Amino acid sequence: MMSSESVLPLPENPIIVGFGGVGVDFLAVVPSFPKPDSKIRTTEFTVQGGGNNGNTMTCAARLGLKPRIISKVSNDGPGKTMLEELEAEGVDTSFFVVSKEGTSPFSYIIVDNQSKTRTCIFTPGYPEMVPQDLSRANLLSALDGARVVYFDARMPDNALVIAQEAFHQNISILIDAERPREGLNDLLSLADYVVCSEKFPQAWTEASSIPRALVSIILRLPRLKFAIVTLGKDGCIMLEKCVDDEGSHIEEMDVDSCFVSLTTRKEDSTAMPTCIPSPVTKLRAEGIEESVCGRLYYGTSEKIPPSELVDTTGAGDAFVGAVLYSICANLSLEKMLPFASYVAAANCRALGARRGLPYRTNPRLASFTE
Ligand SMILES: Nc1ncnc2c1ncn2[C@@H]1O[C@H](COP(=O)(O)OP(=O)(O)OP(=O)(O)O)[C@@H](O)[C@H]1O
Ligand SMILES: *[C@@H]1O[C@H](CO)[C@@H](O)[C@H](O)[C@H]1NC(C)=O
Ligand SMILES: *[C@@H]1O[C@H](CO)[C@@H](O)[C@H](O)[C@H]1NC(C)=O
Ligand SMILES: *[C@@H]1O[C@H](CO)[C@@H](O)[C@H](O)[C@H]1NC(C)=O
Repeated sequence: MMSSESVLPLPENPIIVGFGGVGVDFLAVVPSFPKPDSKIRTTEFTVQGGGNNGNTMTCAARLGLKPRIISKVSNDGPGKTMLEELEAEGVDTSFFVVSKEGTSPFSYIIVDNQSKTRTCIFTPGYPEMVPQDLSRANLLSALDGARVVYFDARMPDNALVIAQEAFHQNISILIDAERPREGLNDLLSLADYVVCSEKFPQAWTEASSIPRALVSIILRLPRLKFAIVTLGKDGCIMLEKCVDDEGSHIEEMDVDSCFVSLTTRKEDSTAMPTCIPSPVTKLRAEGIEESVCGRLYYGTSEKIPPSELVDTTGAGDAFVGAVLYSICANLSLEKMLPFASYVAAANCRALGARRGLPYRTNPRLASFTE
């Protein structure tokens, strides 16, 4: 028996809602990426549930949260298997829309065992989800008692209806922003938290560096408490907005220099993820008139030995699942980043977006919250 101290604590309110994509992943590991018109063999093959929302909620469930998913599948074999898989993980699927006709979404994912890249070929399901698919009564029951609602930015028309209701009910909103998409801006304007992929900040703001783009994001989205950018094996950067006390003498600093100074404090000897925060600072960005009062954080990733790195599919989803746990558990942001990086790294040690996701009974997890 494990001692109770070594189990990740259950948050007071563990209910979260995830809206967005679920699908089936057909994962094929190949010795190296195929050339066009060639014939090669897989060295390993597996079929598992996928989709940003499905993966993120599975991660959250394993960490002890009680996620509910709102999404759509078809009543075909893959659709049924996906729902069973999610239920078995402890995800509430009762708000799914199941279409009699059509096809559930799926992805072919080619994992190159040499370069460790994962190439995804996505096929959307049909019929597409439309706002009429979700009755107001179901929406209200899905949101009932929720601490936070997650969006992966798919199906923007439905997403906006749900986000507006969540906003109205004071339920926190987290957006996983992969790339600029139709309808995303309306959704972002309601967000409390944003986690985005490496390319998003500059694509969305046209700023000339990621730290500058973060300043621009915080200025453009006045509701945001923090924005995180994940950088794969290079870790992550987060900008937290702080209350600007008029009259206090907060130091002013250029955001790019601030980030560089954080990276120089990284210790190469540690394999475990760490968090390096700046003091509360007035952050200035070249080309942007206004400054942001905030703290910049550099989160290092876990150093995974090459022999243990299997597949980075779903690393971002695992990271976000752990951020959702941290919000529900009121973890400090300094603890949140190493925790999320550890969870994401665990997922990189197994094939697919879900197999490596850790369970709350994993004694290492609790140590990040102490
Ligand atoms: N090779 C790696 N080694 C260690 N940690 C990693 C590695 N790749 C990813 N991670 C962890 O996972 C986090 C998210 O990864 P990444 O930035 O690649 O997300 P992503 O591009 O959104 O991924 P996906 O779309 O596949 O879910 C990183 O911040 C890091 O903590
Ligand atoms: C990946 O390559 C390594 C050696 O480079 C090998 O040991 C391992 O079995 C391969 N894994 C898969 C799934 O092909
Ligand atoms: C949301 O919060 C505001 C301000 O704190 C409050 O006035 C309002 O009653 C709250 N609404 C709900 C539905 O809880
Ligand atoms: C959350 O934690 C912060 C410190 O990190 C504390 O000030 C705050 O009171 C906590 N809130 C709740 C609801 O526990």
